[in-house]
Amino acid sequence: MKQDNQKDNLLVDIRDLNVAFFLRQGVARALANLNLQIKRGETLGLVGESGCGKSVTSLAIMQLIPEPGKIMSGEIHFNGEDLMKKNRKQMRKVRANSISMIFQDPTSALNPVLTIGDQLTDTMIVHQKMGRKAAREKAEFHLNEVGISNPGRQLKQYPHELSGGMKQRVMIAMALSSEPDLLIADEPTTALDVTIQAQILDLMLDLQQKYNTAILMITHDLGVIAEVTDRVAVMYAGKIVEQTDVKTLFKEALHPYTNGLMKAIPSAVADLADHEKLYTIPGNVPTLLELPHGCYFQKRCHLVSEECRSRHPEFTERSAGHLVRCFHV
Ligand SMILES: Nc1ncnc2c1ncn2[C@@H]1O[C@H](COP(=O)(O)OP(=O)(O)OP(=O)(O)O)[C@@H](O)[C@H]1O
Ligand SMILES: [Mg+2]
Repeated sequence: MKQDNQKDNLLVDIRDLNVAFFLRQGVARALANLNLQIKRGETLGLVGESGCGKSVTSLAIMQLIPEPGKIMSGEIHFNGEDLMKKNRKQMRKVRANSISMIFQDPTSALNPVLTIGDQLTDTMIVHQKMGRKAAREKAEFHLNEVGISNPGRQLKQYPHELSGGMKQRVMIAMALSSEPDLLIADEPTTALDVTIQAQILDLMLDLQQKYNTAILMITHDLGVIAEVTDRVAVMYAGKIVEQTDVKTLFKEALHPYTNGLMKAIPSAVADLADHEKLYTIPGNVPTLLELPHGCYFQKRCHLVSEECRSRHPEFTERSAGHLVRCFHV
């Protein structure tokens, strides 16, 4: 059912979320006062370099932060309910019915000793209380839907008998079989070759339209972002530094970090002359154990000033829906 009330339209509302990992060397602040919203039916891209907190964000939503990590504070509202207040059993129900996840490596997400059919039907039988026969039929329907021809035969196969692209299709079928409100896709196409990548992304978009599922698309690939997302949040060292709709991001990114990511897009390589090299952002992501005073990006930023070293920039709205965390834009 489509709702036009702005508040009802909000599916995920993360407020001031803090996640830390307690390591022998110290405390790594993986997420620092993270605020993030996902609207019903939209695709939100979450982009940033390795280690910036993309996967931790998704695991926090699922309430699956691994040891030695811990959610320190904050709220995660989903469909109007605070997931932080749910117990394990209630969370299992949310994960089975309303939030699904697909990962980069479908092989590790599939159980090698169970057939595709058993894996697809198990959750339906356990969580949706379906009978075996009805579950089989529904599994066939969903395999068909993700473009697997002869689903009856595929149901009897084991994961190792399928190609990478096929396995990812099975994962999508599994993820969407509960018709979730939210699909979290963590680098879903990174392990696939380019043509298969495009097919899988198209498939996800088709099914999203059909079920009005919101997608949190986690990727380091700005090409994927350009192709499938509505809005984008750029993360750096556990904080969102820029957020806007995808068109604005590619037309007028404002944060120096976002601009660095844009300049580093490999597809631009074809246009470079021999003597030019692909741009890389200088330096590295700061260690989360010892974040600098002030802006976290200061050591790599060409616009850095005294202010950046002494104060942390607020996340401020520059134009409607375009938020940036920088003193110099
Ligand atoms: N299992 C863990 N043990 C210890 N620290 C962790 C663990 N998982 C995450 N972290 C910490 O949280 C930070 C964010 O990790 P996260 O996995 O969210 O990065 P990411 O943005 O998904 O990176 P990638 O693009 O490589 O997947 C890491 O830099 C690390 O400090
Ligand atoms: Mg990750």
